[in-house]
Amino acid sequence: MDRHIVLIGMMGAGKTAVGGELARRLGARFIDSDSEIESAAAMTIAEIFARDGEDFFRARESEVLRRLLAAAPSVISTGGGAWLRAENRDLIRQNGLSVWLDVDLETLWNRVRMRSTRPLLKTADPKGTLTTMLDSRRPHYSTAELVFPVRGGDSVEQTASRLTQAIREKHPELLGAR
Ligand code: S3P
Repeated sequence: MDRHIVLIGMMGAGKTAVGGELARRLGARFIDSDSEIESAAAMTIAEIFARDGEDFFRARESEVLRRLLAAAPSVISTGGGAWLRAENRDLIRQNGLSVWLDVDLETLWNRVRMRSTRPLLKTADPKGTLTTMLDSRRPHYSTAELVFPVRGGDSVEQTASRLTQAIREKHPELLGAR
């Protein structure tokens, strides 16, 4: 690959699962930026939010992205808020292909509702929060270089397979002669 493939989109979009599978298919390294933040801090994302707050987390997130994007091309999954900072968008655009995993609200909700790992959804009305968040973030996500609509019922394998195909068709330069 001649640059990174960077998956962006909402919590529950499948960035980590699909990213891992996409990397396997392309024979590339896979990195999850949230996991990198957690290992650098030796704390979970929830602990970082609780102890140091969101602004602190966002600063660490930008640092980690900068480091990952400076390394050899890989498949990177980002946290749902990463694309909202202009600084991060610029870095990603300079060093990689941004791919928005566009997933509908009900599918997102069904995936995130049972998990307590997302501090931003610890509200009185988490589904309302998710809805508002998707509405306000969609215009930003839609500026990704590749907008990839995920089909609701598809498995990780099916999604990764369709995505590999989309990248081969729309960005053959990225994969070189492969
Ligand atoms: C966030 C998404 C999370 C994590 C943090 C904030 C967001 O990552 O970075 O909880 O702002 O949407 P995932 O998208 O991997 O859940």
